[in-house]
Amino acid sequence: MKSVILAGGSGTRLFPLSREYFPKQFIKLRGFDKSLFQMTLDRALNLTKPKDILIVTNERHKFLVMNEVENYNIPENNILLEPEGKNTLPAIYYAVKDLNDIVAVFPSDHLILEEDELIETIKEGQKLTKNYLITFGVKPNKPHTGYGYIKPGEKLEIGYKADEFKEKPNLDLAIEYIKNGYLWNSGMFLFDSELFKEEVKKYCPEVYEAFKLNDIKDIYELAPNISIDYGVLEKSNKVAVIPLNITWSDLGSFDALYDIFDKDENGNILNEDVKYINSKNNFVYSSSKKLITLLDINDLIVVDTKDSLVICKRGSSEKIKDLVKTLKKEN
Ligand code: GDD
Ligand code: MG
Repeated sequence: MKSVILAGGSGTRLFPLSREYFPKQFIKLRGFDKSLFQMTLDRALNLTKPKDILIVTNERHKFLVMNEVENYNIPENNILLEPEGKNTLPAIYYAVKDLNDIVAVFPSDHLILEEDELIETIKEGQKLTKNYLITFGVKPNKPHTGYGYIKPGEKLEIGYKADEFKEKPNLDLAIEYIKNGYLWNSGMFLFDSELFKEEVKKYCPEVYEAFKLNDIKDIYELAPNISIDYGVLEKSNKVAVIPLNITWSDLGSFDALYDIFDKDENGNILNEDVKYINSKNNFVYSSSKKLITLLDINDLIVVDTKDSLVICKRGSSEKIKDLVKTLKKEN
């Protein structure tokens, strides 16, 4: 078995903690001694040896990644560098194009609390790889529009055949999908590389054709920008879903981080540098050691770094990516 770690996203929604040159996966969250990327490496190491772990990242993050893998014995050749990000389908194809093996794919920017349970589920999932591309489903707790939704169908030896896969629906559809028992796509996958390549050839021949070229620059120039979700999973009828019973967060926003972090009895994130007075349900995150005080303040997100301070209402943090776009235009 091989593990593929996707580490090419930019994660602008966690600005100012993440930056173009320092994406979300390299952040070390308060209370954790490793970055999200290193926690992903540990995850993959529970399943595969260092020599069987492939990392796909943008060439400008080469040194960041090399620094992160320093103590992991991953061969340098296993770090695959993309000239530009073309989303997850080309990234995964790049990793598996010369393989003939079972492959587990991990995004590098998730927080998972029950690692053992996940690894057991992935191992069991191998029973289905002959006939299916396997997704892992999480029970939704709100109609999030940034996820893929999967409708479990016929019961299989483990998990279900996926009757439908709908990537990033609008709010009305998301509400309806939740009512009808759809699961969120966790973004982790398991498949036989041969079946995967067949399905790419069938449903996204542009990617298949691009990877016939020799030079990686030419390949990436030709390949369309497309995710595995839109390119293959929505179209293929060989998709299965195995429900996961774990605490999972894609940490896509400060609101998602708020859900994960420990809170005091008033719903404020626990933080020894912050004093809350008559204040409720606040998220204050600071990378300096200064005292921060909140008085009569509710439902606020405050993120303070060395050179930037972001303040927004709880519930609005998904829009930070638009804020970053605006900042970029102005610079
Ligand atoms: N190497 C590489 N190159 N990695 C990439 C690229 C790329 O061009 N684009 C994204 N990634 C990595 C990201 O770093 C992340 O680890 C993972 O691939 C998923 O990409 P995201 O951009 O974060 O996807 P998403 O969150 O919008 O949607 C996906 O994940 C959701 C769960 O978190 C989809 O699979 C959804 O269906 C799913 O619900
Ligand atoms: Mg994501």
